[in-house]
Amino acid sequence: MLCRFLWLWILLRRADSFSVTVPSSPVLVVRGATALLSCEFEPDSNISNVVITWQREENAQVVHSFYYERDQLERQSSDYVNRTKLNHKDIAKGNASLSIASFGLKDAGNYLCIVSNNKGTDRRVVRLVYAAFYSEPMLSVLLKSTGVTVQYELEGYPRPEVMWLGSGGQNLTDHLEISPASDGGLFYVKSSYITQSPAFNVTFTLKNPALHQKLQRHVNISYDFFLQRFTEQRTKQPFDDRQEQHCLS
Ligand SMILES: *[C@@H]1O[C@H](CO)[C@@H](O)[C@H](O)[C@H]1NC(C)=O
Ligand SMILES: *[C@@H]1O[C@H](CO)[C@@H](O)[C@H](O)[C@H]1NC(C)=O
Ligand SMILES: *[C@@H]1O[C@H](CO)[C@@H](O)[C@H](O)[C@H]1NC(C)=O
Ligand SMILES: *[C@@H]1O[C@H](CO)[C@@H](O)[C@H](O)[C@H]1NC(C)=O
Ligand SMILES: *[C@@H]1O[C@H](CO)[C@@H](O)[C@H](O)[C@H]1NC(C)=O
Ligand SMILES: *[C@@H]1O[C@H](CO)[C@@H](O)[C@H](O)[C@H]1NC(C)=O
Repeated sequence: MLCRFLWLWILLRRADSFSVTVPSSPVLVVRGATALLSCEFEPDSNISNVVITWQREENAQVVHSFYYERDQLERQSSDYVNRTKLNHKDIAKGNASLSIASFGLKDAGNYLCIVSNNKGTDRRVVRLVYAAFYSEPMLSVLLKSTGVTVQYELEGYPRPEVMWLGSGGQNLTDHLEISPASDGGLFYVKSSYITQSPAFNVTFTLKNPALHQKLQRHVNISYDFFLQRFTEQRTKQPFDDRQEQHCLS
């Protein structure tokens, strides 16, 4: 009797001690990049007993599976076809890391790494976060008898923090429109500053908090009846902050 309990205890201990290891914090993946979902386990000398399943936690969609020493993709979700890769040579070393190419907004979320071998079975969640760098801001200036509209348009993800600053660094009121871009993986941002002043010097700043991206553009405009001109200043220092000059006449 005691012997049987002891045997059961050893068996449970063995099952218990088998564990998979994944990153504890979310993994940030940039639009279009290849995501690496790390997952490691204690290897067993016999790879023929290894079963690896990667699936979405939210809806149990199969992302990739491996058993009988090969990829088993019959039940793979169509969203992941031709995009996933499991390195077979690494499996014997206890590495079940999966890569997913062409990362997009739909790929953000939780992925379960489930591994079984002779030593036991375990599962852990890898969380992926999606972001996209904001594109080069496109400037347009509209001069009217009633005033001037300075507008920047650009795309990225997630929602940015936008500010317009005056020459003294004071906050200016601006008009901001944020809408989803056509494919859903980007926000389309249109931000404008309107003034009646015939001369002004303003700075547009945009931050993408997820990627610590900062964009800064200076616009310096002065115009009158005979001469209308403006300069957009862009300097490389201290971050993405450039200088350029244009003339309208
Ligand atoms: C590996 O495991 C399989 C199934 O359990 C068994 O048939 C095979 O003989 C084992 N191979 C080795 C080298 O132990
Ligand atoms: C996946 O790749 C195969 C072979 O290159 C190709 O025939 C198939 O159309 C691709 N499927 C998708 C969904 O891209
Ligand atoms: C596991 O495999 C991946 C993909 O092959 C590789 O990038 C990673 O460095 C490996 N991890 C370890 C700890 O060897
Ligand atoms: C224009 O604004 C920039 C940034 O706020 C400032 O560094 C610069 O001195 C200003 N120039 C003038 C002429 O006010
Ligand atoms: C400008 O306003 C924003 C919010 O509208 C605020 O977060 C920021 O601190 C302000 N900056 C300055 C220089 O007043
Ligand atoms: C802005 O433009 C005015 C008029 O052209 C010029 O005098 C001034 O120096 C410019 N400011 C900067 C910071 O370039």
